[in-house]
Amino acid sequence: MDAAEFRRRGKEMVDYMANYLANIEQRPVYPDVKPGYLRSLIPTEAPLEPENYEDVIKDVERVIMPGVTHWHSPYFYAYFPTASSYPAMLADMLCGAIGGMGFTWASNPVITELEIVMLDWLGKMLKLPEHFIAGTHGQGGGVIQSTASEATLMSVLAARCKAIQQVQASNPGQSEAEILPKLVAYTSEQAHSSVERASLIGGVLMKKVPTDDNYAVGGGMFKKMLEEDKAAGLIPFYLCATLGTTPSCGFDHITELGPICNKENMWMHIDAAYAGSAFICPEFRPLLNGVEFADSFNFNPHKWLLTNFDCSTMWVKKRDDIIGVFKHSDQPFYLKHEHQESGLVTDYRNWQIPHGRRFRSLKLWFVFRMYGIQGLQAHIRKQVALAKEFESLVRADKRFEICAEVIMGLVCFRLKGSNQLTELLLKRITESREIHLVPCHLSGRFVLRFAICARTTDSRHIQQAWRHITQLTFEILQEPNH
Ligand SMILES: Cc1ncc(COP(=O)(O)O)c(C=O)c1O
Repeated sequence: MDAAEFRRRGKEMVDYMANYLANIEQRPVYPDVKPGYLRSLIPTEAPLEPENYEDVIKDVERVIMPGVTHWHSPYFYAYFPTASSYPAMLADMLCGAIGGMGFTWASNPVITELEIVMLDWLGKMLKLPEHFIAGTHGQGGGVIQSTASEATLMSVLAARCKAIQQVQASNPGQSEAEILPKLVAYTSEQAHSSVERASLIGGVLMKKVPTDDNYAVGGGMFKKMLEEDKAAGLIPFYLCATLGTTPSCGFDHITELGPICNKENMWMHIDAAYAGSAFICPEFRPLLNGVEFADSFNFNPHKWLLTNFDCSTMWVKKRDDIIGVFKHSDQPFYLKHEHQESGLVTDYRNWQIPHGRRFRSLKLWFVFRMYGIQGLQAHIRKQVALAKEFESLVRADKRFEICAEVIMGLVCFRLKGSNQLTELLLKRITESREIHLVPCHLSGRFVLRFAICARTTDSRHIQQAWRHITQLTFEILQEPNH
């Protein structure tokens, strides 16, 4: 493909994308395919001779679309949202064209420089404490990780490194191998599975803290566990608190947990993967109170801030803590440059697991400028209002119950009675392919999660989704045995 054809095909592709998104609600939201469906639709080996573009694009509808779950359909209510907006998609196109790597400042100055400033912009939108903002006199700053999972892992590694140094400072004879088995990390029993994975990769024990009636961790139970573990000779060193848990969007009490962590010299990381975006709205910002006690904080603009995957923003109180993780690893000669860690710039490869890094801040720059803070706030508020609308529909129907407080864009609900009844309802919903949701377990109950996901979801979609759910419920309750 030469530049002239790229110009033509690129314009056609933008038309295809715009049409796809404009007409997405006409497609069944969930694909009707069986595992292995794709293998029989394409050759068993890659083509030896080049094919032409028409043949490739023709196969998009034949091969690709039948297997697509349409996350941006307004009838998609599963998991949490994955963000999408036209400005972010356009920025991603340009990122593809620039196509460079930004592992060090020198490898591509703009990638590092725009990222530092965009993380400051976003940090200020969230009213983060000054010490997290790079452009102040603090020692902190922000970085874009690929996912919240990577941010959590980096925080575990940084905390582990710091804890080992602290123990060795007071007990110089102790080796790392002696200290590691004594280190204990903590997180909520409702935390995302990626938190436990981080401890597995970090080679440290992680304990789950039981939650209260709102599926949140409070100071009391946490403190009790710490006392028991310290008495047993263990060294508590890390807590991952969650703001907006995955099952029910619960909020750990960070104003209670933070002072405990600070007093015990433990690292507190806050995972606000989904809910973090809402803190740009003053009415939701109080939920972030206590962030001043945290060593690191992370959320995903790629979930709820109209910035397509991947873009997970993380701030640390002290840059040196995170950079310290890899300071003993090799510093190849070809990566050295004269501005290294000059205080003005940083080499972001030292803040993350992979070496390579894309120009992800370009998406944030486009999105912030083209929506403005007010446009982004309007998006969050609209989606929360839609969740409230759905909640009222559920509450008005005596056959159903709400299972957790609705604070943001997630509604947890179930049919009253046995778990089997709600399980059957979900099975019928999934088979219908008209709307799509996933379940969770709360206090031993099988619960449906209804998350407002697509940017284009409106009241009429919510009303239609509820009509569909009640129609399927009516059919189930007519059946013998129910
Ligand atoms: C609270 C929480 N943390 C972490 C994650 C994982 O996010 P990522 O896919 O960015 O690793 C999720 C995903 O939904 C989540 O809800």
